[in-house]
Amino acid sequence: MGEAFKGANIAVFDFPEFETYPGCARWDETLEQLLALPQVSEQNNVPDAKGGRALSTVHLSDKLNIPKILNFTQDPLGRWLLTNVLYAAADFGLDKTRDIKKMKFHRTWVNRMTKGCDAVAHRHAAPGWNIPHMVAIFYTQVPENSADLVFIDDNSEVMRAGSICEYPADKTHLIQAKAGRLVCHDACILHGTTPHLNDLPRTCIILEIGFAPK
Ligand SMILES: [Fe+2]
Repeated sequence: MGEAFKGANIAVFDFPEFETYPGCARWDETLEQLLALPQVSEQNNVPDAKGGRALSTVHLSDKLNIPKILNFTQDPLGRWLLTNVLYAAADFGLDKTRDIKKMKFHRTWVNRMTKGCDAVAHRHAAPGWNIPHMVAIFYTQVPENSADLVFIDDNSEVMRAGSICEYPADKTHLIQAKAGRLVCHDACILHGTTPHLNDLPRTCIILEIGFAPK
């Protein structure tokens, strides 16, 4: 990790042997159904997604609660995810000011990128916002040459900016997207992706998470 990112609130967890985990099929099937909804397929790209077609359920996040739909609390993969979100919250020091066991999902959605698509630099919150505190990204489908996640060392207050390639390499930190990988990060960190360069799509779940005050 580059100097600027030492101590940054970013945590990465990999579900062991995700590719052969039998529980994936149910998640994949459910996510396919959500992405196939006419309200999703007929929607234009979200403003963050450029260069190619992207599908997202973000505009339906008040109706589609992904942790509930996938039954996180009963499902081994869901429980693994929740446990690691708690580890990340403690690692980020949120337990000093927050009751991290009282987790609230702010918005939750599914994202799919197709060939040529990238996510421009964006933040999910600005310092001082009440919620979300953390963003958790869980990758379910990641073919070769997929878009990777890139964090940017940027102290401005910009909420959405340009493509990742506009930033100098020494200001960025790349985390490879990988099926079964969970990346938790402080909601205020500017980030985007490299372009997605495979004919097969890349799919992930995004969870914006807040924790109750102590
Ligand atoms: Fe994001």
